Amino acid sequence: MTDPTPVTPELLHELVLLASRSPSPHNTQPWSPRVVDGGIEVAIVPSRTLPAGDPTFRDVIMSLGAWIESVSIGAAEVGYAIDVEVLPALSQLDSLPVRGPADADRPVFRVTLTPTSPDAASAAGAAQLPDAAFAPGTFSSDDVRERRVYRGALVGRPDVFSNLDSLQLPPWLSVRSLDDRAMRQLSTLGIAFTASRATIANELLHWLRLDPRHPRYGLDGMTDEMLVMPRPLARIAAPFTRTARLRDPVVALAGPVARFLEGLGRDAPLPTGVPDEPGAPTHHVLVANSRAAGIDDILSITEAMDSRIGVTEPHALEAGRVLQRLWLHAHRQGVAISPHSELIDSPAAHGALRKRLGLSRSDVALSVFSAGVAQARQVPRSPRLTDSSTQ
Ligand SMILES: Cc1cc2nc3c(=O)[nH]c(=O)nc-3n(C[C@H](O)[C@H](O)[C@H](O)COP(=O)(O)O)c2cc1C
Repeated sequence: MTDPTPVTPELLHELVLLASRSPSPHNTQPWSPRVVDGGIEVAIVPSRTLPAGDPTFRDVIMSLGAWIESVSIGAAEVGYAIDVEVLPALSQLDSLPVRGPADADRPVFRVTLTPTSPDAASAAGAAQLPDAAFAPGTFSSDDVRERRVYRGALVGRPDVFSNLDSLQLPPWLSVRSLDDRAMRQLSTLGIAFTASRATIANELLHWLRLDPRHPRYGLDGMTDEMLVMPRPLARIAAPFTRTARLRDPVVALAGPVARFLEGLGRDAPLPTGVPDEPGAPTHHVLVANSRAAGIDDILSITEAMDSRIGVTEPHALEAGRVLQRLWLHAHRQGVAISPHSELIDSPAAHGALRKRLGLSRSDVALSVFSAGVAQARQVPRSPRLTDSSTQ
């Protein structure tokens, strides 16, 4: 047997570029990867976290998990498996500053590659990720590049999430379904929560790019096109997202109105026994069971409680990998995803969601998303910081 050819920096850079297409909250792209000897170390960029909207780092960590899954998919195409070493800094995010650049000396995980086939070396030498045929349940780098979120009208395809066997979810993760009526009501409640908290609303507005003249329009954040906003409305709204003088009074005015609506919504019972309309999007909740995850000894319970997510950070990272697989699974079948984190972020919506799903104390809802066929000729592509590099 010949020694495997070492993994080249070119291949690692290629994988980093591919993984930059991973989803992240508000398209913040909170990862800062660094190619090191034989592997990739990733640190978190403090200024790309969401201290108001994601104080527990749940969504940041899940997006890092999606990033890892993207690397894994690209690496598998050229015959490598990945090893992920979770580093202590992942469980010490409370000490992360709220702004500023990544600290390369505090990576949160390290990825290394091990060859799985004799062809690995030659494929890696080309440093290109070729198209390949894959078994069901596995994905290609094209899937990673082409997957996208769609926030417009979706027509549900209930079959897509009815059998997830091929995705090999770990036993402590499950995907529950939520009915359309409950989803709509809880989403409204969640949006009212976001709008009524000035810090969360301001943070969201900071990541909106509603006009192509925004200096970061092609780099990060959410554009008018991604939000499926009519252009005239986007152009009127754009200055309010950028100038504090305009933004602050609007946020201040929206607060009490949203708080009033939130009060109304909190007291409204969820309708029961109403079947979904034909064609309604389907809605799904990724749930972790902390007991099944083995978080039942005193030490790990303490870790899970310290993490504030409800599961330990390494578990949240793993859940992010699964989330990416779920979204790619949908993409493979022509179905787009529309995430709705507001159902978890708003305590009132979260409580009602838990009740609706009959979650137990050891269950933790990590992600809520809708799925369906996008009713659009073209689903807009979200920008990335790496877009100037060839992809
Ligand atoms: C953990 C996580 C939570 C997210 N939550 C939301 C959400 O609540 N609402 C939303 O519209 N998009 C949400 N997104 C989607 C991102 O906004 C989206 O991935 C990003 O804008 C990039 O777009 P793309 O996925 O189409 O490439 C979430 C993504 C991740 C990874």
